[in-house]
This record gives sequence, structure tokens and C-alpha cells, in this order.
Amino acid sequence: MYTQGLDVKSDSDRAPPADTPTGPEERFQARVDAEEKIEPRDWMPDGYRRTLIRQISQHAHSEIVGMLPEGNWITRAPTLRRKVALLAKVQDEGGHGLYLYSAAETLGASRGDLVGDLLSGKAKYSSIFNYPTLTWADIGAIGWLVDGAAIMNQVPLCRCSYGPYARAMVRICREESFHQRQGYEIMLALSRGTDAQKRMAQDALNRWWWPSLMMFGPSDAQSAHSAQSMRWKIKRFSNDELRQRFVDATVPQAEFLGLTVPDPDLAFDEATGHYRFGAIDWSEFERVLKGDGPCNRERLEARRKAWDDGAWVREAALAHARKKEARAQAAAA
Ligand SMILES: [Fe+2]
Ligand SMILES: [Fe+2]
Repeated sequence: MYTQGLDVKSDSDRAPPADTPTGPEERFQARVDAEEKIEPRDWMPDGYRRTLIRQISQHAHSEIVGMLPEGNWITRAPTLRRKVALLAKVQDEGGHGLYLYSAAETLGASRGDLVGDLLSGKAKYSSIFNYPTLTWADIGAIGWLVDGAAIMNQVPLCRCSYGPYARAMVRICREESFHQRQGYEIMLALSRGTDAQKRMAQDALNRWWWPSLMMFGPSDAQSAHSAQSMRWKIKRFSNDELRQRFVDATVPQAEFLGLTVPDPDLAFDEATGHYRFGAIDWSEFERVLKGDGPCNRERLEARRKAWDDGAWVREAALAHARKKEARAQAAAA
């Protein structure tokens, strides 16, 4: 899936000599503990590299596949202003995918392999993008809830121990906050609108609420990679902590909209200062993750078609690069 060729030389450069009291793993952990950023040419454990490649590439795939449910509404946006905002948002997501593929490449992964794994169905992406966007209100709900959940997940990643990932997340998070606001503003307009518009907004909240809570991943007790990722400071908070923060921030926003969160067990707990919420249907999450969500096949087909349709662009870019190189060689000779 990836080659380590890039850093073979720096491995031997950076790893301490065998007679020093601590081995490379201990020195690496000490740097992480001291909040030093790990850079592409630094020595790092194989597991750290693999974990980051998996996480960053899944994140990149999610940004790219995430363009599809919303791109579907660009031609049907109700006003020019909404169309411009949605177009900018979807374009931002494409940019996020590109920064993140680049960050994965700094770890020695090949972009071709990563994209190949997405198109073959081997790689995962966020299961939320396998749900359909049935009405315009879904565009509001996605910005408000899905980008809102993404912000909760991603703000701590700005302090991730791996430098290129952390730096990419700074810009991404700024753009995500614009996405969240454009979504909330759509929900606000609908919830202050006609009865039909209010019903549309409520229906979108009903369908997107639970999948948004699932975006934080399974409870930490079930999450295979959590503890090690916390030690490596790739991850700063547990899935459950982030999910709780999201619920605490979002429920008052739903109240302001005059909408009802579709959870009969939702209640504010005075003692803890947090909202308690009902049980998540993890069987649905597993089903969608395994490929049986409402739109899994459609999403992958759209990506494969985009890849095939773009073949001439890749060929033309390659031909142009070769021509440029030949000219430069001729000029040098
Ligand atoms: Fe994004
Ligand atoms: Fe976004």
C-alpha cells in the first residue's frame, strides 16, 4: 500500500546509535510527549506511519466522496447566492482531499495506490456520505450537522503530532467553520419559513441526526486504534468525549431553530452539565460501513466514472510535462 523508500536514508541518519541508553522508539515517544512535531524525514515507528497513512487517506477519501451528495444540489440551489456558497463549499472539500493526499504522500504513500484502494472499494471513507440528499433542507442539515461534527473531530487534529497533517488541518478547519455556518443559515431560513419549509427542515434533521452522531466512531471501548493513537498524540480526545461535545453544542442550536432532535431520551443533566442521549444503532453503522448503505454503490460508481472521464486530463498533463522536459534538455545541450 505504501513504500518506505522516501525515508530510508533519514532513518539511519536520525536513529540514535545502538549504545545510547534509549532506543529510537523511546526517543520518538519523548519527542511526542514534549509536543515536538514529527516531520516527514524524522524517524518514526512503522505503526505510527501506517496509522497516519490509514487515517489521513480515509480522511482524504471522505472529503472527495463528500462532494457527491452536495454536488447533486448545485444545479438546484434556490437562489444565486445559495448556489455560489454551495459551489464554494463543494470546491473547498475537493481542496481538502488534495491537501490530505499530499500529507499522506509525505509518509511515503503513493497517491495512485490510495486512489486505487478507494475505487476498488478496499479503502474506507466516512459512512455518512452513503446517505442520500432528498431535499434542499438536506444541504442545510449537512452543513450544520456533518460539517459541525467534522469540526469537533478536526480542531484537535490541528495539534496532531505529525506536522504536515496538523498544518493542513489549520486551513481545513477555518473552511469547515464557513461550511457549518452556511448550513445553519439554510436551516434558519427554512425554519422561519412556511409550514412546508419547516417540515422539510425537521425531516432533514430527523434523517441526519443519528448518522452525524455515528461520525465520531464506535465507543472507545470498541475502538481498536484509540489508545495507541492517544499515546502518539495523533488523537487528543476519545470518540465519546467528542460526540458529547457535539451533542452539547448542537442541541441548543436545534432549540433556537425551533426543531426537535429525534431522540426521546435526550435530556439535560443538571448534575453533569451535559445532555444525555439515547443509544446509537451501531448495527446500522456497521451495515453502511460494510457497503450496504443507501448510496454506497452509487458513490463508488460516480468516483470510478470521474476517474475514467479524467483519463485524457492525466494523459495530456503527462504529455505536456514530457514535452517541457525534452525542451529543457534540448536547451541545455
Ligand atoms: Fe472538508
Ligand atoms: Fe466541509
